[in-house]
Amino acid sequence: MVNKIKIVVLFSGNGSNLENLIKHFHCKRFGDKETQIIPITNRPNAKGIERAKKYGINTTIIDHKEFESRESFDAELVKVIKSIEPSLVVAAGFMRILTPVFTEQIRAINLHPSLLPLFKGANAIEESFNSQMRVGGVTVHWITPELDGGEIVEQGCVKKIRGETLEEFRQRIHDLEYTILPASIKYILNL
Ligand code: GRF
Repeated sequence: MVNKIKIVVLFSGNGSNLENLIKHFHCKRFGDKETQIIPITNRPNAKGIERAKKYGINTTIIDHKEFESRESFDAELVKVIKSIEPSLVVAAGFMRILTPVFTEQIRAINLHPSLLPLFKGANAIEESFNSQMRVGGVTVHWITPELDGGEIVEQGCVKKIRGETLEEFRQRIHDLEYTILPASIKYILNL
């Protein structure tokens, strides 16, 4: 018998990590398990929607602008996620601060482009690049109400190259994300 494993991916924009996860996990067999990616976005014009469509996958859109508070948006998101009954929820470029309405009901991981606890927040790559540190990196952690603060699942680091530009560094961080996030998901789901 095949065990269906649903992985919900939350994203807000570009969606390159979503696409990478689709390549790794959509309709893929791991022993007696078959994985499926189910994308959800809070932005109706997110580029990731088109990326998913290329693989025949529809994205559920829950536009945060239609909700009057963070809590009411989170309540709707929780309702939709629960109706899917996923094995795991993954935030990959999901640019929302999640309230306890979400974190107390949904076990989810987040991908962050720095070596946490350093460089929390939305400008992690630039701050890491501009810091004196000789390494940058990527963290996958469990989501808690504290922004970028939950228990760490996995990390990887990138050694800085003297003279490289921010864009070159950014690309190397993203390349690392494309291995660290699927590896973390395999570890958590025992695939
Ligand atoms: C990634 O760098 C991720 O670490 C951060 O947002 C970015 C999303 O990129 N949280 P993409 O939308 O997957 O291309």
